[in-house]
Amino acid sequence: MNAPDIALTQTAAAQAARPMPHVMNTYSRLPIALSHGQGVWVWDTQGRKYLDGLGGIAVNTLGHNHPKLVPALQHQLTQLIHTSNYYEIPLQEQLAAKLCELSGLSAVFFCNSGLEANEAALKIARKYGHDKGIARPEVVVYEKAFHGRSIATLSATGNVKVQQGFEPLVEGFVRVPMNDLAALEQVAQSNPNISAVFLETIQGEGGVNPARWEYLQGLRALCDEQGWLLMLDEVQCGIGRTGKWFAHQWAGIQPDVMPLAKGLGSGVPVGAVVVGEKALNVLGPGNHGTTFGGNPLAMRAGVETLRIMEEDGLMANAAAMGKLLADGLRERLAGIPGVKEVRGAGLMIGIELDRPCGVLLGRAASAGLLLSVTADSVIRLVPPLILNAQEAQQLLDLLCPLIKDFLAES
Ligand SMILES: Cc1ncc(COP(=O)(O)O)c(C=O)c1O
Repeated sequence: MNAPDIALTQTAAAQAARPMPHVMNTYSRLPIALSHGQGVWVWDTQGRKYLDGLGGIAVNTLGHNHPKLVPALQHQLTQLIHTSNYYEIPLQEQLAAKLCELSGLSAVFFCNSGLEANEAALKIARKYGHDKGIARPEVVVYEKAFHGRSIATLSATGNVKVQQGFEPLVEGFVRVPMNDLAALEQVAQSNPNISAVFLETIQGEGGVNPARWEYLQGLRALCDEQGWLLMLDEVQCGIGRTGKWFAHQWAGIQPDVMPLAKGLGSGVPVGAVVVGEKALNVLGPGNHGTTFGGNPLAMRAGVETLRIMEEDGLMANAAAMGKLLADGLRERLAGIPGVKEVRGAGLMIGIELDRPCGVLLGRAASAGLLLSVTADSVIRLVPPLILNAQEAQQLLDLLCPLIKDFLAES
């Protein structure tokens, strides 16, 4: 059964009649309350069924109610949920060792979210600069970047809407355009205070904008030459989503610092910053910490997510299903005026239209499909990595007519 028409709650009337009056009003929510899920499907409290093309914004790697993940987490609940970083936590070591094996990097700090992982990266960049004798270290960041909503990470973000009202911003950032090595070389020549370059390997909130492989390779070389840290935010594009463990691996390079979160715990909050040799000893005891970070429940979720991904071949699946979706979208939307580009990698796909299309969020939900719209005009698909071919076809069947109708009318 399809849902009745679901409109975004952005109107003044909807704001006035807030559906959750005691929850702070920081999101424009759809009037849908999800109650449970199975695989790539979720149901709301009215019994309506949706194909989950959003995966909790690239979080639910293993979909919902996964038959291997749920018993493992149930077991963990009976052992320990939380202890303290005052003590050794063997599951931290286990997950850290796995992340180092998969990335080729050396050590991990665990936290609880993407912005926390990025905040840790920024502290590493500053301390690395200070250790080199730079009194006021600066970090190169990017136009259209999104790194989170803490004061430091929103300052690193390249979107004035995210920053407005929170000035003064944190200083010490130099902004450049994506995929323009000459711009960065100019910074290298004119600014002796740079300690790190910080970017998303594929920008997510900025509209699904990939860094080109040659650009990443050029960046790696420039960072080596200048003694800068290369810090790749893989919070959204990492953990198998593009068909490799980490999106930068397509370019055959390694970062020095890599923040992760979202997909790492399949829905249990886990953040991590993974560092290579160059950044290994920058932070020491007393330099950084968090109460919850790396607790046993979160670590078990991470360990099991990576184990199940390997066991079930989910990276190969992400690559194959991503291709099926991208090919299907290109074929079905070919020649339709208003469709600018289908881009991305694996199961991180953006469909850019020539006009704002936020209204599609509600329309897609009405048709039984969850998705998101970023950068006003880019439809974003980041479904669970367990999506199968039949479900990918269903997604295309649901989405393509919506796009065509929308473009025909506006
Ligand atoms: C690339 C990137 N970095 C950081 C963040 C912030 O993560 P969180 O919302 O977990 O703080 C996001 C969230 O969308 C993201 O996409």
